[in-house]
Amino acid sequence: MNTPLPYTFVLFGATGDLSLRKVLPSLYRAFHTGKLGDEGRILAVARSPLDAAGYHDWAEKHVRPHLDEGIWVAGTWERFLALIDYLPLDLSRKEDYGVLAERLEQYKGTRVFYLATGPSLFAPICEGLHHANLNEGARIVLEKPLGTDLKSSMAINDAVGAIFTEAQIYRIDHYLGKESVQNLLALRFGNALFEPLWRREWIESIQITIAEELGAEGRGDFYDQTGALRDMVQNHLLQLLSIVAMEPPFSMTSDAVRDEKLRVLRSLRKLDEDQVGRDVVRGQYAAGASKGVAVPGYLDEPGVHANSETETFVALKVEIDNWRWAGVPFFLRTGKRLAERVAEIVVNFRPVPYPLLGPQSARGGANRLVIRLQPNESIRLYCLAKQPGEGMHLQTVHLDLAFDQFFHADRMDAYERLLLDVIHGRLALFVRRDEQEQAWRWVEPIQKYWATSGKPPKRYAAGTWGPPAASALLAQHGTCWLEEEN
Ligand code: BG6
Repeated sequence: MNTPLPYTFVLFGATGDLSLRKVLPSLYRAFHTGKLGDEGRILAVARSPLDAAGYHDWAEKHVRPHLDEGIWVAGTWERFLALIDYLPLDLSRKEDYGVLAERLEQYKGTRVFYLATGPSLFAPICEGLHHANLNEGARIVLEKPLGTDLKSSMAINDAVGAIFTEAQIYRIDHYLGKESVQNLLALRFGNALFEPLWRREWIESIQITIAEELGAEGRGDFYDQTGALRDMVQNHLLQLLSIVAMEPPFSMTSDAVRDEKLRVLRSLRKLDEDQVGRDVVRGQYAAGASKGVAVPGYLDEPGVHANSETETFVALKVEIDNWRWAGVPFFLRTGKRLAERVAEIVVNFRPVPYPLLGPQSARGGANRLVIRLQPNESIRLYCLAKQPGEGMHLQTVHLDLAFDQFFHADRMDAYERLLLDVIHGRLALFVRRDEQEQAWRWVEPIQKYWATSGKPPKRYAAGTWGPPAASALLAQHGTCWLEEEN
């Protein structure tokens, strides 16, 4: 475990949803487990005219309900609140940042500025920090969405980059902080077993799914402007794809890892209009049932425009044009209001070269590695085995590693890990500007096609696995999604 460091954590947007759901609960969790010590200070900054005591009351009411059961301990919570100070500030007025500078003079240690605000405030906040001379030596944390397309994300990066160097900028993609995603690196680069097989000669296809059961969940206003491509594909799915497909980095230092992920993003085959029309499925949920309970369709969610064409589902085929992966289709999929909450990677290996033991042994995917990222993180390796008894009848069996059963320790929350990494100055799990922009560059033809094709998203009933076209996409390649197997 790291020794707790003195730090000053300035939380902009301290009364917003992200702060109360993610940032403050994760800081408390780290404090509760001793990873953050008493020598730090948290300065909550927002527009509301509160003082520290008023903010503590607010936190008690709004943050406490988001803490996992069992970790709230009265004495620890009181000590945690004692670290939190509050400053009311109009973030758009750079003249006001002098007050912030005065307040910060009282505190020691690494300065972290966490921007839990809308992206329209990123540039004004950076200017304000610069105006008050607060940018030197500090770290700045940016939350997605970082723009809505390549152009707007470049504008944000330019504005932030004019004040902070790239080594000071921590762009969060919380999937990179998940224990299970870290484990993917361990599986690939800590074992000699899989790596020789991790290539086109042995792998037939790969699926990456992030499925959610929840719908727009009171975030209709935000989601309707965003959609699944921007919310999940451009960031989380492409980051997972990069980790699955990257070459072994020469070291685990931040730039070595990020260089390799960038090379994957650069090798993604650019989609032309025909390919987008053929290989990308856009869906939107209609009314249906989630866990047996009737739920409304997307268009009836609060905050959603009545004729909205925003997608809540995307499935697509991606090809990576490099020596290792040429010709191997990667099928990516994400959606809201799907049948189950699951994130997993399915690696289908090629069949044996000759059906010596009958047709079953010659089927692709008979050997398959399923890496379940959430919930119930596990690794499952499917093989064929002989059924007991007469004759040679093969049956699929699997070797299972359920992490919860093996490691009894608590899994660290993604945000907790990432916030501690910022305080300790570790950049490896944050997205570099070139990666982020390359991902936008790659999704751009999809955005353009959807904006101009006049084709609405395909409907699917809530509680199903998305539109049938998502199944047809795989069927063209002689395969199917994991849940469609028998
Ligand atoms: C966020 C998206 O980045 O990730 C949400 O904005 C989505 O729409 C969430 O629900 C999913 O994260 P997780 O960790 O619950 O899989």
